[in-house]
Amino acid sequence: MCGIVGYIGDKKAPPLLIDALKKLEYRGYDSSGVGIVVPGDGNIVLRKAHGKIQNLQNLLRSKPFPDSSLGISHTRWATHGVPNKVNAHPHRDCTGKILIVHNGIIENYESLKAALQKKGHKFVSDTDTEVIAHLIESHYKKDLLAAVQKTIKQLKGAFALGVICSDHPDTLIAARIGSPLIIGLGKNENFIASDVPAILEHTRKVIYLKDGQMAKLSKDNVEVFTFAGKSVKPKIDKVTFSLDAVQKQGYAHFMLKEMHEQSDVLKQMVQKRIKGNTFHLEELSTLDKELKNITNIIIVACGTAYHAGLVGKYVIEALSGIPVTVDVSSEFRYRNPIVGKKTLVMAVSQSGETADTLAAIKEAKAKGAKIVSICNVIGSSIARESDGVLYTHAGPEIGVASTKAYTAQLCMFYLIAAKLGVVRGVVAKKDIDNVIQALKHIPALYKKMLKTKNAIARVARSNAHFGCFLFLGRNVNYPSAMEGALKLKEISYIPAEGYAAGEMKHGPIALIDEYRAVVCIAPESDTYEKMISNIQEIRSRKGKVIAIATEGDEAIKKHATHVLYVPKTHKLLTPLLVALPLQLIAYYISVKRGCDVDQPRNLAKSVTVE
Ligand code: F6R
Repeated sequence: MCGIVGYIGDKKAPPLLIDALKKLEYRGYDSSGVGIVVPGDGNIVLRKAHGKIQNLQNLLRSKPFPDSSLGISHTRWATHGVPNKVNAHPHRDCTGKILIVHNGIIENYESLKAALQKKGHKFVSDTDTEVIAHLIESHYKKDLLAAVQKTIKQLKGAFALGVICSDHPDTLIAARIGSPLIIGLGKNENFIASDVPAILEHTRKVIYLKDGQMAKLSKDNVEVFTFAGKSVKPKIDKVTFSLDAVQKQGYAHFMLKEMHEQSDVLKQMVQKRIKGNTFHLEELSTLDKELKNITNIIIVACGTAYHAGLVGKYVIEALSGIPVTVDVSSEFRYRNPIVGKKTLVMAVSQSGETADTLAAIKEAKAKGAKIVSICNVIGSSIARESDGVLYTHAGPEIGVASTKAYTAQLCMFYLIAAKLGVVRGVVAKKDIDNVIQALKHIPALYKKMLKTKNAIARVARSNAHFGCFLFLGRNVNYPSAMEGALKLKEISYIPAEGYAAGEMKHGPIALIDEYRAVVCIAPESDTYEKMISNIQEIRSRKGKVIAIATEGDEAIKKHATHVLYVPKTHKLLTPLLVALPLQLIAYYISVKRGCDVDQPRNLAKSVTVE
């Protein structure tokens, strides 16, 4: 949610800042801007544009930047103030000397703004961010770091900041609390960025700035401090994923690439975790005693990760007998949830930065619960806040619609459920082993399913004109129906609802007519016959049915309008397999309708504000 880049070094800052910013465009794409300090005359030059970064690039062709080796850039997902050029970052103070970029929300900005206005500060934007520039100005007495430090003490909320000042052409200041920020360490150059892909082309050495830390960067030095000004020796990490991981590599979209990557992501998870008849989740071994004694599990997550959590509930209950509830993070945190010392709270988050999920686990921790998280981004805030972290290692997910992170989360839930099953011992070991052994075959089945993508594309395109979709599933595939609907609506803007098929008669059936398409998830299961009855009810009301069924199920053809097949697997694992056709249906419909697959309107990849 908003992307920040800052550069100080020997190279030309403007093109570098734009290139790096493009790698963060998934974080927000309402408007963008770059500000630089011109060496020599010490002037600040600012360029901003409404809309995508391409618009800023177009502007720079007619109004190029002078040379500079210090600058900051920002791509915005609007919170306060409509997306336009004035509200785009960077923002500056009254003197025009101080420039800032910000990711997050300043909760007390209205009172700060009123006080600053009383003192004569002139505001030009509707953003919360602009107060930061004016506050720094009000504290500035030639020491930029000290002015930022004093400013931070007055701010409430979440922020990652980049600050430059024309009096200091050799200094870039960074600070963070609640919003991610990394420092990239180069040779005669240093960077700040919201995420690693922005700087990967230049360096792999990074410092993950922690909450409550700030930094002063010059081209050949980086000093890290606490907000109180205490010097900190930062840990330098080495990024291991390749540049290819953040490039499209010939695919039309990141989403398509990431769907294809799923077989490798799952393969690597399965190979790492399952050796012969045993499986490994060492990260949880320190919690063995707690896991034996927990009375219940609460899973908290948002969006697609929430759907993964819902599948997790079915699987954990089936294999371990431990009662599980799943809560949308934003609901959990505001409803005084009943969390005991024997409750295990699990957070699921690709980014590890989702503000509501982070707040939910802080709330649960305060109530004495142990926290285990499933995260994709290493060192993310949710991971750091947890007692145990299970990384999915799915690699960077750039497409805004989550695909490979979702299936990796599902895979992790099967492993966790098996682990809990073994620890609790209420389900026969052989039943747990059957799931684990079947999980080993899933990566190969993914490869096989990807070969059928053209058939899925044909079905998707021939249904792309429908104005409304219903997705129905039962039992462990009820969450699959919700996920299928979410994928479709977010990237094609077609209204879509995911329902438990048994609920169809309690309302959604009123939607059915010849203008509706219904995706019925009907793999082999204990409720298969019930799904067939649902399909017949839809067909007799002229609804079109796209059925997702198990290979070899010829009978379903006489009921459904189209049938897409997934290979046979253990019935608990079917959500892993049906995920792919559901993702592909959404993808091909989105492409057919000319939508922006990777950057759907109004969305951003990492939701770091409430
Ligand atoms: C949908 C999607 C979102 C995220 C949600 C949580 O395709 O990507 O619904 O799943 O914003 O994000 P994370 O997993 O980063 O906490």
